[in-house]
Amino acid sequence: MRKGAFHFILGLFCCVACKPEYSNHCNPKENALKERVNFKVGVAVDHDLLGFDLAYEELVQSQFNSLSPENAMKASYIHPASDQFDWYLADRLVNFAENHGMRFHGHTLIWHQQLPEWIENFAGDREQWRALLEQHIKTIVNRYKGRVAAWDVVNEAFVEDGSLRNSIWYQHLGASYIRLAFEYAHEADPDALLFYNDYNLAQNPLKRKAVIRYLEEMKLAGVPIDGIGCQFHINIHFPEVSDLNKCMEEVCQAGFKLHISELDIALNPFSRSMPQPKEADLKRQADRYLAVFKAFDRQPNLLKYGITMWGLSDADSWIPSYFNREDYPLLFDGNYQAKAAYCKLIESL
Ligand code: G3I
Repeated sequence: MRKGAFHFILGLFCCVACKPEYSNHCNPKENALKERVNFKVGVAVDHDLLGFDLAYEELVQSQFNSLSPENAMKASYIHPASDQFDWYLADRLVNFAENHGMRFHGHTLIWHQQLPEWIENFAGDREQWRALLEQHIKTIVNRYKGRVAAWDVVNEAFVEDGSLRNSIWYQHLGASYIRLAFEYAHEADPDALLFYNDYNLAQNPLKRKAVIRYLEEMKLAGVPIDGIGCQFHINIHFPEVSDLNKCMEEVCQAGFKLHISELDIALNPFSRSMPQPKEADLKRQADRYLAVFKAFDRQPNLLKYGITMWGLSDADSWIPSYFNREDYPLLFDGNYQAKAAYCKLIESL
């Protein structure tokens, strides 16, 4: 057989028999992401999977040492009626973290989304709204005192022009709700770290500077604020690594602990048809994950609170359903197989 023909057939065979297009070459069963860095690496867990899907659970506890509840501690789940708290889901996740020696990061006490109807429709005056805010925060933080290491106390209170969001909390309490929320959380658990959490802080310097300035002024006034969560819902094209780096540096230079709190790196921000991820995009995603981890690792040790992935596998990411598109933003594919991004971190950190 002529040499060319042999190689052609060999190549044909490899195309058919080789691993999927975006293959990986490292084994999570022999590696642990949490052991590659000197800071906490977390994952936001789905309460419908943890405790029910053993492969999911195994990967969560073997790769990560911090847990965030993707939804279980949001008001619509944990405080479904004015006189009713539902602890089942949150207890299950906190117990799992404790049983596996994992830190627990509480998400989120005060947000304008995922509110139960009774709060959306609450018709109280300013004092009654203040009392509602206090009872919500203190009841939850008290229950997990000493078990939840930190809280996203207020989530997404700013809009893109740097002003405060006209949320239901702002409408009924003005800007004071932010200060009150941190003060109530601190009163309930003085040892818990308290974070402000928001998105687009790397992409939007105007918003970032407004957030940092506002929180600096509150901290100077004695309000107990320990850190800033930069969510980092980013993609393979945007923002520049230099912008990610600048965001981290400015948060740390202001003296706040830094939490990359909801990291995912979308491959398909323009919502094109993408039934399978492209090899080149997966490699770009891998490089970007490594850039985020390395930039974070360059920050001062005492301020490195951690990096939390916003989901475990591409199949349970919020992005495809929220944007109604195919996307592959996380470290593991829909079959919990390591992607190039996971392998890049394991091999390069
Ligand atoms: O629990 C119900 C289930 O009973 C029902 O069958 C199902 C279908 O309707 O919906 C389920 O609720 C969904 C929930 O996720 C749990 O899966 C909600 O519809 C859905 O809106 C909710 O989405 C969450 C989203 O926040 C809400 O805005 C995502 O999972 C969650 O990843 C996302 O996370 C937020 C952070 O908390 C804050 N930062 C932004 C980030 C992305 O939006």
